[in-house]
Amino acid sequence: MSMQFTYLNPTKIFFGQGQIAAIASSIPTTTKVLVVYGGGSIKANGVYQQVAAALENHQWCEFSGVEANPTKETLDKAVAIVKEQAIEMILAVGGGSVIDGCKYIAAASHYDGDGWDILTGQHQVSSATLLGAVLTLPATGSESNSGAVITKAATQDKLAFLSPFVQPQFAVMDPDVMKSLPERQLINGLVDAWVHVCEQYLTYNHGHMVQDGYAEVLLRNLLTLASQYDQRDNDQWRENLMWTANQALNGLIGSGVPHDWATHMIGHELTALWHVDHARSLAIVQPSLLRNQIELKRGKLEQMGREVFRLDSGEQLAERTIDAIEGFYHSLNVPTKLTEHNGDKAAAINLVLEQLEKHGMVALGETQAIDLTQSRVILENAIA
Ligand code: NZQ
Ligand code: ZN
Repeated sequence: MSMQFTYLNPTKIFFGQGQIAAIASSIPTTTKVLVVYGGGSIKANGVYQQVAAALENHQWCEFSGVEANPTKETLDKAVAIVKEQAIEMILAVGGGSVIDGCKYIAAASHYDGDGWDILTGQHQVSSATLLGAVLTLPATGSESNSGAVITKAATQDKLAFLSPFVQPQFAVMDPDVMKSLPERQLINGLVDAWVHVCEQYLTYNHGHMVQDGYAEVLLRNLLTLASQYDQRDNDQWRENLMWTANQALNGLIGSGVPHDWATHMIGHELTALWHVDHARSLAIVQPSLLRNQIELKRGKLEQMGREVFRLDSGEQLAERTIDAIEGFYHSLNVPTKLTEHNGDKAAAINLVLEQLEKHGMVALGETQAIDLTQSRVILENAIA
């Protein structure tokens, strides 16, 4: 595979303590701003107050209540506000859900039809309201990428869209905001970032040394941060997680290499059906998926075993690497089997397969090798 790509990441990053103040000079004071946030954690931890202080000379209003795994039903209310009040810039203050939700709001507010058409591909985004982000949970990389994942609650569909028009203009990444994160969310961030690197690295051998080497650095960082989890209340630990999670999905390591994303696509169905946290859906699917795809991925699994886990070469290295990945999740007390489905395993598998088929997820993975038959095998081993 020859290396060929076009790469641009236009999001300006303000990284470090106190950087929320940088919003003030990043948005012209004549711009009408809508500040969007989630369930209110930003009011308890002082982030809202810092944003309000930075916007004291701006004209702004707010929309709150964007839920984890944001729904189009909620977001459409904000789309109406943007249209009615001629909002010129949306400021997302939150984790991946709020930022993704704002990407939908930004694109849907430039479209007369139902915003869900963007997720089904019936509408191609060709313009959007400008977007800025204040990240409060390092995990998804959404703060400086062009992707978003949105749920339609009515039909339990969780779908993604990509558009350069919704890439944030700027992203504030102040590691101090992490101090109020519940442990569950901190761990989710470690796991999500880990799987993002894997989706772009654990494919087949292509010999692109920068992408592989950089991916391995990010994986080793996450492994180190997990092993130093007792130091999580320390500035350096927080800075390193925030920057690593961003780099895991800002487009760089994925440039010019094959991508997998099958774990994410199957995981999204578990979240849509049973509200499994995004990161936890990945830990449930990935070990089983890697065991199912081991022959296609053997070379890369062996490389990961040597370069990330520092395993001895020799017999069954790929198998031992998958065990080590599973061990990484268990070390964080993250389960690798689905238990949220009320016990009826056969019914749960059929339900996921129906949803995958409905969403056209019938040839997943870097070589499209995961059809519904393989997904069934993966789910047999992933569901308790
Ligand atoms: O609602 P609030 O008050 O904001 O509380 C949130 C929420 O309850 C809370 N939280 C966030 N920052 C906090 C905080 N609590 C205390 N202190 C803080 N500083 O954490 C909870 C979870 O937040 P959420 O935004 O849902 O988490 P995450 O960042 O993990 O985002 C998950 C969503 O991103 C999508 C997922 O599918 C899921 O919908 N993804 C987006 C991607 C992208 N755009 O590139 C890629 C990912 O693979 C992923 O699919
Ligand atoms: Zn993810």
